[in-house]
Amino acid sequence: MNINRNVLTLDEFTIQQLRNFPNATGELSSLLRDIGLASKRVNVEVNKAGLVDILGDAGSINVQGEDVKKLDIFANNQFMGVLKHGISCAGVGSEEMDDFVVFDDEVSNNSKYVVMFDPLDGSGNIDVNVSIGTIFSVYRRVSERGKPCTKEDFLQAGNRQVAAGYVIYGSSTMLVYATRRGVNGFTLDPSIGEFCLSHPNIKCPEVGRIYSVNHGNFFQYDEPVRQYIDTCQRKTKDTGGPYTQRYIGSMVADVHRNLIKGGIFMYPNTIDKPKGKLRLLYECNPFAFIVEVAGGKATNGKQRILDVQPTELHQRSAFFVGSRLMMEELESYTGKV
Ligand code: AHG
Repeated sequence: MNINRNVLTLDEFTIQQLRNFPNATGELSSLLRDIGLASKRVNVEVNKAGLVDILGDAGSINVQGEDVKKLDIFANNQFMGVLKHGISCAGVGSEEMDDFVVFDDEVSNNSKYVVMFDPLDGSGNIDVNVSIGTIFSVYRRVSERGKPCTKEDFLQAGNRQVAAGYVIYGSSTMLVYATRRGVNGFTLDPSIGEFCLSHPNIKCPEVGRIYSVNHGNFFQYDEPVRQYIDTCQRKTKDTGGPYTQRYIGSMVADVHRNLIKGGIFMYPNTIDKPKGKLRLLYECNPFAFIVEVAGGKATNGKQRILDVQPTELHQRSAFFVGSRLMMEELESYTGKV
């Protein structure tokens, strides 16, 4: 049998990375392994989502007599479960839960990290078979180790992230994560049930031709944003265009595509949502970290996203993220960040 030993699994890769840090404890690798495990379980359920009418709708009783949970609640429970039972996480914050959760036991109180996640982003797309995703963000806690973690651990600026990543449940399932050293992507090989390194050292192209924004809200955006969108529409061959508009309404899929191909994703504030729609801690910060490590930029239109000091767990933000030169062109309208 021909086994391609050039292909590293997620575990092999994170362990290999550890060798560069003789003092590393392996806690981050263990955390990533836990996240990988939860996402494989979620992946199985996402793949069955189309069968919901046959097996029973959310809130009903399935053929085994068990409650059928909504997929986003299922995903939330999976991530909570693996992180609680692991050895590296002192507590979690989730887009699905009003408050953060402290894992108040001896091992967890001695753990180095807290994790924030959006268990199933774009869940409005589940019914129509469009890619959805999980987003996560890892912080070193600032509270004293040996004691339960505190709210301050969760309200850290995004520039203090140790790692961030996402899982995209799409035509194939991928886990992409970033540390300060780089961004790497792993594709799930269903035949062995492992994430395998498929996109090493991802770099976001400096410029692309894709802009992603909800055009339906165009007249609700501030004038500078409208002007920039207008510029995108008028691009010609001579000015770096023409541009293509691509907007799925599932940020994980939209930003993933733009990260690989080059592009800009925008969710500006609107008249109806003056603070924006996306959550700073669960959606904007992790993607800002990933895209910046890959060479791109991320702002709220006024400030670098990663420098915003959060005051609330579920704080919302306008969000602009993507290829460096496209972001700089946007800034020529909204003001330099
Ligand atoms: P939800 O998880 O409630 O489906 O929200 C998805 C998020 C994000 O992933 C996406 O880019 C954005 O909301 C889409 O919002 P609009 O439909 O307002 O464009």
